[in-house]
Amino acid sequence: MAKISKLLLCFTIQYFFFIACSASPIFKSISSDESALLAIKSHITNDPFSILATNWTRGTSVCNWIGITCNQKHQRVAALDLSGGRFQGTIAKEVGNLSFLVSLDISRNNFYGFIPDEIGHLKRLRYLYMQLNVLSGQIPKSLGYLTRMEELVLHNNSLSGPIPWSIFNITSFRSVDLMYNFLNGTLPEDLCGNLPKLEYFNVSYNHIGGKIPATLSQCSEIKFIVLESNHFTGSIPRNLGNLSKLEWLVLGENNLTGVLPPTLFNISSMTALAAENNQLSGSLPWDMCKTAMNLEYVILFQNFLTGPIPSSMSYCRSLNKFSLYNNSLQGRIPVGIWNMSSLQHLYLWSNNLTGQLDISSGNSSVLTEIVLGNNEFYGSLPDDMCFSHPNLEWLEFQINQLSGQIPSSLSHCSALYLIYFGANNFSGNFILTSNSESY
Ligand SMILES: *[C@@H]1O[C@H](CO)[C@@H](O)[C@H](O)[C@H]1NC(C)=O
Ligand SMILES: *[C@@H]1O[C@H](CO)[C@@H](O)[C@H](O)[C@H]1NC(C)=O
Ligand SMILES: *[C@@H]1O[C@H](CO)[C@@H](O)[C@H](O)[C@H]1NC(C)=O
Ligand SMILES: *[C@@H]1O[C@H](CO)[C@@H](O)[C@H](O)[C@H]1NC(C)=O
Ligand SMILES: *[C@@H]1O[C@H](CO)[C@@H](O)[C@H](O)[C@H]1NC(C)=O
Ligand SMILES: *[C@@H]1O[C@H](CO)[C@@H](O)[C@H](O)[C@H]1NC(C)=O
Ligand SMILES: *[C@@H]1O[C@H](CO)[C@@H](O)[C@H](O)[C@H]1NC(C)=O
Ligand SMILES: *[C@@H]1O[C@H](CO)[C@@H](O)[C@H](O)[C@H]1NC(C)=O
Ligand SMILES: *[C@@H]1O[C@H](CO)[C@@H](O)[C@H](O)[C@H]1NC(C)=O
Ligand SMILES: *[C@@H]1O[C@H](CO)[C@@H](O)[C@H](O)[C@H]1NC(C)=O
Ligand SMILES: *[C@@H]1O[C@H](CO)[C@@H](O)[C@H](O)[C@H]1NC(C)=O
Ligand SMILES: *[C@@H]1O[C@H](CO)[C@@H](O)[C@H](O)[C@H]1NC(C)=O
Repeated sequence: MAKISKLLLCFTIQYFFFIACSASPIFKSISSDESALLAIKSHITNDPFSILATNWTRGTSVCNWIGITCNQKHQRVAALDLSGGRFQGTIAKEVGNLSFLVSLDISRNNFYGFIPDEIGHLKRLRYLYMQLNVLSGQIPKSLGYLTRMEELVLHNNSLSGPIPWSIFNITSFRSVDLMYNFLNGTLPEDLCGNLPKLEYFNVSYNHIGGKIPATLSQCSEIKFIVLESNHFTGSIPRNLGNLSKLEWLVLGENNLTGVLPPTLFNISSMTALAAENNQLSGSLPWDMCKTAMNLEYVILFQNFLTGPIPSSMSYCRSLNKFSLYNNSLQGRIPVGIWNMSSLQHLYLWSNNLTGQLDISSGNSSVLTEIVLGNNEFYGSLPDDMCFSHPNLEWLEFQINQLSGQIPSSLSHCSALYLIYFGANNFSGNFILTSNSESY
């Protein structure tokens, strides 16, 4: 009640004596911003370019200090940008007094120590960038109070402990990037219950365990899910196939089990699907590229995948890298593969693939690497493979049952620099280009 009447009083006075009313509180507040900034400065022990030493000085308006942007209306500090200044020091808790702060960027410095709890006082904060420092300790739970926050970027620090679940209640979040820290614990089961706008979620290269929450499917705006190199277990939730805007699903180097959900190939926006180095079973769906025709990267090596390579693969016209080595794929390589206009890297070694290699049935000037060792291919290699695929650089055919002459056209692959042919039944001699090696 007291507060309201004060406000009303101020309004009334302001109406008649504009300057008298507005100047005094503004003066007070900007001076509190000034003392907070000077406290921040005093915690910076190394300022190698002398940026703050000469610039952040009393007697000049903080709004003219380097790295500061003031809010037009209130003349209060709205943005603090100290990125890339090679500052060393800790983060002063007084940062929490910059109550009009919308954006805080101290990325690419050598800030160490903890993230102060007081950051949770910055009710107007939308952007928090602290990546590429050496911050340690836990991510403060108080960040959960920052209900307007859109971007939280803390990658490449030494943060540890669990991600405070309170942050998953910030409904305005669009981007969370915590990559390269030492975070552990698990993700909440209802991860996406309150994150309707989330587009980027990157917690890769941490120590997070537990299951991938099936509620991720409720983050309907999500484009990038990056969980690579953690300790996630259990299966990939089937209903991730509902995420109609998903572009990257990156799950490699975890302990995921169960079947690779065929529903993932229902996402037409998907460009990268990576889940290498897990224990996934099942097979690629026969219609894998009928809907997911924008796939550029399919990276599933070192799993337990079986079944054939679907011939629908050739509908993925942008496919650049197909890496499924060290699985148990069976059957023949679909002939359309040799005609794919974007395919550059074909990695299929250590599978149970068979059949003849009709490489010259298609043509491509993009294909550079064909790595097919340790399978059960037979027959001879087409003599004209370097006419149909002139930019081959790296060929591995070792440990198969290939026979016949080694193709004479190989000398037309002018970029070729490595060929493995060993442990086959090839006959005759073969002359190499001068810059290549063969085994
Ligand atoms: C920050 O705010 C706290 C509490 O409002 C106050 O006690 C302190 O003096 C302020 N510090 C600075 C440097 O303004
Ligand atoms: C501080 O730096 C800003 C931006 O470069 C400049 O406009 C201002 O004059 C400087 N102030 C002082 C006191 O050097
Ligand atoms: C982040 O950290 C990783 C791992 O230490 C490192 O490989 C990477 O280069 C770092 N990123 C940048 C931009 O320095
Ligand atoms: C998580 O990390 C913290 C800090 O490094 C450690 O004390 C804690 O034991 C870890 N918890 C688990 C479950 O590994
Ligand atoms: C998130 O918000 C809901 C309701 O607003 C509340 O019940 C829940 O405890 C909050 N969760 C966390 C982790 O803060
Ligand atoms: C984390 O993932 C997002 C989405 O893929 C990406 O934009 C961002 O660059 C990644 N972070 C790092 C540090 O690479
Ligand atoms: C996977 O699980 C095994 C056994 O539980 C463990 O030894 C291994 O470190 C785990 N790998 C990862 C990447 O979490
Ligand atoms: C999401 O996918 C699951 C399984 O694929 C399906 O049963 C469910 O109906 C879908 N939910 C929505 C909201 O589309
Ligand atoms: C979606 O996935 C299901 C299960 O794999 C499949 O039956 C269905 O045809 C797919 N829909 C589209 C549009 O690809
Ligand atoms: C294939 O994967 C197994 C099990 O993950 C591993 O032990 C083996 O070294 C891998 N082989 C190759 C050729 O990469
Ligand atoms: C390869 O593509 C060419 C031109 O698009 C086409 O004429 C030919 O039939 C295709 N070959 C195969 C095996 O798909
Ligand atoms: C191929 O299959 C045979 C038997 O069917 C099995 O012994 C062998 O390990 C398999 N090889 C690979 C690389 O999966």
